[in-house]
Amino acid sequence: MYFPSYRMRRLRQSPQMRRLVRETDLLPDRLVYPLFVTHGNDVYKEVGSMPGCYQMSINNLVKEARSVQDLGLAGILLFGIPAEKDEAGSGAYDEEGIIQMALAALKEKVPELIVITDVCLCEYTSHGHCGIIRDGDVDNDLTLEMLAKMALSHAEAGADIVAPSDMMDGRVAAIRSALDNEGFTNTPIMSYAAKYASAFYGPFREAAESAPEFGDRRTYQMDPPNSDEAVRECLLDIDEGADIIMVKPALPYLDIVYRIKQETKFPLAAYNVSGEFSMIKAAASNGWLDDKQAVLEALGSIRRAGADIIITYHAKEAAEWLGK
Ligand code: PBG
Repeated sequence: MYFPSYRMRRLRQSPQMRRLVRETDLLPDRLVYPLFVTHGNDVYKEVGSMPGCYQMSINNLVKEARSVQDLGLAGILLFGIPAEKDEAGSGAYDEEGIIQMALAALKEKVPELIVITDVCLCEYTSHGHCGIIRDGDVDNDLTLEMLAKMALSHAEAGADIVAPSDMMDGRVAAIRSALDNEGFTNTPIMSYAAKYASAFYGPFREAAESAPEFGDRRTYQMDPPNSDEAVRECLLDIDEGADIIMVKPALPYLDIVYRIKQETKFPLAAYNVSGEFSMIKAAASNGWLDDKQAVLEALGSIRRAGADIIITYHAKEAAEWLGK
């Protein structure tokens, strides 16, 4: 059937008609909101490069968590800023560490909200790398032990899901066996399986105070031009026991999101990272684009590519906009 008997515009003529044939949904319950928790009381410190995002103390985190729950979001992803950093990142698995205390408060005050914890040493090490340094580079196997301890301490403190973001080989298996050995057989692992060495993490490193002091993360995070390798990374993590896999960043890697969903059919998260967030905010504050429309279009494209879960700093505003 061709024009003029066939007209594509028939199904675009009104908002109601467009909604009727919409192929992709974007709902608040697909969105996870990342939060940065820090020591102190009543701290609420805006991150310069991420307008509307804050480092906050535990009392304010609890308030945020309540509002996340009221908005119907899927949950939160927690990053901790420890009081002190050292070579081994020991604050990461301290029973009285910032994440462990935050989890206790959250599980007491907002018990039903899903809390996912980031498992990685970079916020806790004095050098800012994601593991233990030996001979000028991150030592994979030494780091596994720390990551397993960290994940276990999160589970003990009440984490609903642990999310390793370090990109060490074998970490999913190491974490799975540490959890299982201590009876946490029901704690899922969301693995940052295909995480690229990306320039788009820039603003996050200010938010989490985790920029590496020397070198970069290219010996452990993936090389951006690669795609087959992302499939291998995901299949390996699935074999090791990952329950949910992740592609990160999201928007510059939608081909990877699409491909991983097609090839694995596994629950898939995509991380709409700090730089993706800040780009839209910077353009919007200059009046160069419409904030709301740009955000919903960007998040919708991540869904359309195949992500089941979207981790995004836009989660709260998107939920508000979607509710209207
Ligand atoms: C920690 C970690 C990073 C992000 C999430 N977990 C930073 C990095 O790898 O340098 C980035 C998140 C973002 O940019 O929003 N390893």
